[in-house]
Amino acid sequence: MDKRQKLLTKREQSKLGGGIDKIQSQHKKGKLTARERIELLLDEGSFEEIDAFVKHRSYDFGMEKIHYPGDGVVTGYGTVNGRLIFIFSQDFTVFGGSLSETHAEKICKIMDMALKNGAPVIGLNDSGGARIQEGVVSLGGYADIFYRNTLSSGVIPQISVIMGPCAGGAVYSPAITDFIIMVEKTSYMFVTGPNVVKTVTNEEVSSEELGGASIHSSKSGVSHISAKNELDAINNLKLLLSYLPQNCEDKTIEINYSILPDETREQLKHIVPENPNQPYDIREVINGTIDCDTFFEIHKNFAENIVVGFAKLAGRNIGIVANQPAFLAGVLDVKSSQKAARFVRFCDAFNIPLLVFEDVPGFLPGTDQEWNGIITNGAKLLFAFCEATVPRVTVITRKAYGGAYDVMNSKHIGADLNFAWPTAEIAVMGAKGAAEIIFKKEINEANDKEMALKSKEEEYGGIFANPYRAAERGFIDEVILPEETRSKLIKAFKMLENKVDNLPRKKHGNIPL
Ligand code: HXC
Repeated sequence: MDKRQKLLTKREQSKLGGGIDKIQSQHKKGKLTARERIELLLDEGSFEEIDAFVKHRSYDFGMEKIHYPGDGVVTGYGTVNGRLIFIFSQDFTVFGGSLSETHAEKICKIMDMALKNGAPVIGLNDSGGARIQEGVVSLGGYADIFYRNTLSSGVIPQISVIMGPCAGGAVYSPAITDFIIMVEKTSYMFVTGPNVVKTVTNEEVSSEELGGASIHSSKSGVSHISAKNELDAINNLKLLLSYLPQNCEDKTIEINYSILPDETREQLKHIVPENPNQPYDIREVINGTIDCDTFFEIHKNFAENIVVGFAKLAGRNIGIVANQPAFLAGVLDVKSSQKAARFVRFCDAFNIPLLVFEDVPGFLPGTDQEWNGIITNGAKLLFAFCEATVPRVTVITRKAYGGAYDVMNSKHIGADLNFAWPTAEIAVMGAKGAAEIIFKKEINEANDKEMALKSKEEEYGGIFANPYRAAERGFIDEVILPEETRSKLIKAFKMLENKVDNLPRKKHGNIPL
């Protein structure tokens, strides 16, 4: 065989991964191969593979006789919608995609290149975990990856897509990355699988119940996006990338100046109900304000009392955090605080301006919340907002009560502009609760207690159930009509485009983790 032919043959061999039978078995499980996934994600013809001929170095258990070029992971770089990304895609057809020393080295090489060149890293995970035949060498490989994940955090976006098993300590690399997308029914993540769970706790649980996509995107919040199938996961990944910068220094801002800044959105007039206790869907406010059909929600099924996601406003990418009155009245609790805090920190790390829609009755009371650390967890959100130096604008649509008023991007903690709708109520608490406390004596002594409570409720509400006390103090910069919201926000974010805000010099803050 001549030298050219030898190369071409080796290339062909490496493309086959673990061989035709294993590829068929992968397809039978409803899963694509590592290369098919890359092909779906990247722009046609843009993928450049690196380390296709790398082989493992294991000599135990007869491993020296079994070699597959590439050693269970396809790595390289290419473009998605014209933008550079680095990628690794684990190949389950080779030793179940398990992570050997060389497999880890390939991933680390890609991660180092991504960091130096300021481009996102995408990991397509489908692996049986540490290569059991390699022992501690494999564990070391994982640690090398975790270390790079951490150093890259906040410098370049890192996204993990889970497309098969992801077990043991292997889950911690995705967990450190910025976003996790899981595929329903064919992917799972857990620290220990159902067998170990049975042995240790005597619980009988399936892989799906323990760590499937639906559990992690609703109960634990480990997964940010749950995809119906692999194609759906890839499409979600592409969409997500379209909202992210290449790195933390990327200054590309795409503004669509053809949108008239004074455009009114009449539909916003009728969303907040007359009755302050009646729910409404905050997504109607979000969608009524932003560029049409641009809201990309993150963590949709987790902690639904707060809504977070990316959107475009006159073409500018923004991050949105919004209380959701349609779920638990939009109250702040442990999970919603964690969800929003992580999102705020992501946006701040990557210079994505923050827009907050506020309608919050306060923090959720009760033993469950206190025992699960609502104090520490609520403080995460507070800390995240306080620390954020990106342009920050708040619109109070209705309730801004108690500590939650402070936490939800108030002026006091560094927000640049706070707007309120005429329906806003900015107070320590709702009028009824307030009247019951401060007029307790008068109400108890009255002949008609109900009447007395009502009158005191009206008295308190008259003073505080509006945005004007806050506006008189300058805590609210402007009271605006709902239909003016879009144009006010477009102008606000344009004004804040070159904002410079520096934190005091320090090694790093100590967020209440
Ligand atoms: C080496 C592995 C492997 C592994 C799977 N294979 N996992 N080889 N190391 N960790 C191989 C199998 O031997 C098999 O090879 C092929 O991959 C496909 O595996 P199957 O079991 O046939 O596939 P399936 O039935 O789909 O089951 C997949 C699986 C199961 C659920 C992932 O293989 C499994 O439970 N594997 C072990 C998982 C595990 O305990 N990993 C270690 C976790 S601890 P052949 O040649 O027969 O096709 C860990 C520590 C990390 O990862 C710590 C970091 C800090």
